[in-house]
Amino acid sequence: MMPRSIVWAFSKKYIAGKSLEEAVQLVKKLNEKGIHATIDVLGEAITNKEEAVESKVECIQVLNSIEKNKLMANLSLKPTQLGLNLDEKFAYEQTKEILEQAKSLKNFVRLDMEDSPYTDATINLYKKLLSDYGNVGIVVQAYLKRTFDDVVLLNKLGTNYRLCKGIYIEPQNIAYKERQVIRDNYVKLLEAMLKSGNYVGIATHDEYLIDEAYRLIKGLKIPKDKFEFQMLLGVREDLRDKINEDGYKIRIYVPFGEHWYKYSVRRLKENPTIAGHVFKNLFSLK
Ligand code: FDA
Repeated sequence: MMPRSIVWAFSKKYIAGKSLEEAVQLVKKLNEKGIHATIDVLGEAITNKEEAVESKVECIQVLNSIEKNKLMANLSLKPTQLGLNLDEKFAYEQTKEILEQAKSLKNFVRLDMEDSPYTDATINLYKKLLSDYGNVGIVVQAYLKRTFDDVVLLNKLGTNYRLCKGIYIEPQNIAYKERQVIRDNYVKLLEAMLKSGNYVGIATHDEYLIDEAYRLIKGLKIPKDKFEFQMLLGVREDLRDKINEDGYKIRIYVPFGEHWYKYSVRRLKENPTIAGHVFKNLFSLK
């Protein structure tokens, strides 16, 4: 168990706050700089259906608040927060209500991608929501060996992607482990997505990949309304500002909520690289 005060000391850089109001104020500041946001209500995989219903209500509140405050923002959600780990049909019913509200507000919802036990279920949920509502996108992970095959199929559906490396610890038989191999796969996937004409959220803080993305976008003459860059709150703000100044659209992932502690500790356990950043941040605390 890590003391909450210590965990909060580093987490606060990466989390907008505990309340929706704090997230709204932070997004307003980003928007003033021309930076877009995607808001995420922090949560773990839920253990009963009541919790999924609570998550749904919170997601709808976020959408309403985006509308009320005229924010340049959309919503990201984790399917297990809506019950994908309990009952796929139930999770669809919950997510569908969020999609309905988003549609009525002309907004957009992205399904985050969690660990590999949920990859197929998340893609199935996405396909059903896409055919019923349309205003939904998905995330794919460059470290998974299956992802290129998934993209071949998803391209045909007119998918709106977020492409990331992937954050979870996955077994070697299904996931690439070497840094450069993951990067190479990321570039290969990005090229396939851009060439398909589908919309891509290029989610990374890796300068090598951002350079490669610039090269592909220019080389393939991809119009600016076919992609955006995406980064996590509190990470590489220098690079974020540079991309913004270069005239490309950039969106920041803004998590908030009461579940910040569990979320932060889980992230620390999952990814030793992030633990490295955490401790660097701890040492620079005033
Ligand atoms: P890499 O990890 O190599 O980081 C590049 C550089 O960025 C580092 O050298 C460091 O300088 C900096 N950096 C990265 N992370 C940092 C941190 N936490 N603190 C401080 N500095 C840091 N994953 C997933 O499995 N499912 C998902 O749905 C999503 N969603 C998502 C949304 C958005 C908008 C982003 C940016 C990322 C995700 N991810 C994700 C996480 C993603 O898979 C990946 O783990 C992280 O983005 C880190 O990978 P990079 O490509 O940034 O490279």
